[in-house]
Amino acid sequence: MIATPSKQIHQQSSQKTLKKGSYWITTFGCQMNKADSERMAGILEGMGYKQAEKELQADLVLYNTCTIRDNAEQKVYSYLGRQAQRKKERPDLKLIVAGCVAQQEGESLLRRVPELDLVMGPQHANRLEILLNKVDNGHQVVATEEINIIEDLTTARRDSKICAWVNVIYGCNERCTYCVVPSVRGQEQSRTPEAIKKEINYLATCGFKEITLLGQNIDAYGRDLPGITKEGRRENTFTDLLKYVHDVDGVERIRFATSHPRYFTNRLIETCAELPKLCEHFHIPFQSGSNQILKAMARGYTIEKYKKIIDYIRKLMPQASITADVIVAFPGETESQFRETLSIIKEIGFDQVNTAAYSPRPNTPAANWPNQIKESIKVERLRELNLLVERIAKDRNGRYQGKIEEILVEDINPKNNSQLMGRTRTNRLTFFPKEGKNGLGYKPGDLVSVKIENIRSFSLTGKPLDEFDR
Ligand code: SAH
Ligand code: SF4
Ligand code: F3S
Repeated sequence: MIATPSKQIHQQSSQKTLKKGSYWITTFGCQMNKADSERMAGILEGMGYKQAEKELQADLVLYNTCTIRDNAEQKVYSYLGRQAQRKKERPDLKLIVAGCVAQQEGESLLRRVPELDLVMGPQHANRLEILLNKVDNGHQVVATEEINIIEDLTTARRDSKICAWVNVIYGCNERCTYCVVPSVRGQEQSRTPEAIKKEINYLATCGFKEITLLGQNIDAYGRDLPGITKEGRRENTFTDLLKYVHDVDGVERIRFATSHPRYFTNRLIETCAELPKLCEHFHIPFQSGSNQILKAMARGYTIEKYKKIIDYIRKLMPQASITADVIVAFPGETESQFRETLSIIKEIGFDQVNTAAYSPRPNTPAANWPNQIKESIKVERLRELNLLVERIAKDRNGRYQGKIEEILVEDINPKNNSQLMGRTRTNRLTFFPKEGKNGLGYKPGDLVSVKIENIRSFSLTGKPLDEFDR
């Protein structure tokens, strides 16, 4: 921890009851960051801050940042420039950079943006109040050292009232040669099954219906926890955790993300098929269709192993939706290796794929390799890939036509308040009219059987079953 005296000394009491002014959080990056932001917003509200209506009016601005690719990192600098300017006129403005850019850059962020009050890595999210108290005592604070993540003692301020994220494992122990995550998120740290279940029990009493368990490689859960079963199998695997948390009354659905093919066992697939609340959507990045590229990426599986996982999922859960992440133009990727990626996408038929061109990242091996791919080829490969992904996803969408899907209502459609919106078990966004023919009104939290009538790229629309003669 570095705590240097700052130029401005803010006199504020840390009494919780004191009104602290307004806060604004902008979140970049993945679900892990979104979950951290909800917890940090909870901490700020616990301290007496209120959510600001506009970013440029807030008394405290926090950017929770992402550095997975260069463009994600650059975005935050332009946001910061604007706030640094504002701080010249409003010296009491508190400016915070949290998340993965904060961890990567640490103290050097203070040199780049001297107006910053606090730079804090993702492992410090639950310590926001302690860190802000140091800022209030007149320090500029950098918190980026590796720590054991403490359990959050406050109540997260969750964006949804129906769906909640629950962290189960922090960090990543893989060493994919392109990826910055292990260096910014640190070693794997699994929460105990008891702490996870306690949080889910609490969420159920608050009325949450859907839980998404979160981890960078969630299927690696538990490797740092003790326990071997009588049969000699490791206890506390992710499969054990799913069974352990499944039966919480009030929770209707359980999801999880992200899965790593290296740890996705048949036992996990069988358990997902057995547990009724477990939704049939699996996000399993494969990154490349070429075994040579997978090896250069140090992914630890072959494309044949990946296909076996998908085949088994589909055998046990034929309706399952499968999504993935892919990188094109990894150093040394030849045209024919790129074609292998395209053909896997056709062969598997993904419901959606997050695509990206390779971006060299600091402190990663591949960034220093001489065989980098030219920008123009990156752009061309990404364009071709995206066209294919869109076409395949559209074909896959066709299977919903005329089907009856169970929708968990999350909210009113913000663009049309006569409609409700929710998701299928396979995670498709779905809209339908609020009032059924029999005058039944539905509301957020309800599970409704909806007959799908229209299909668009990213959503479905339909009518509740009570509109038809059942
Ligand atoms: N832990 C997950 C992925 C987390 S990072 C896994 O291993 O599957 C999210 C995605 O960002 C990755 O799946 C990858 O597709 C992409 N990504 C990571 N580093 C990247 C880089 N340097 N350039 C381009 N995309 C990258
Ligand atoms: Fe990055 Fe690989 Fe870890 Fe995923 S498994 S977060 S891609 S290092
Ligand atoms: Fe980005 Fe950090 Fe997530 S780099 S993708 S916010 S783990």
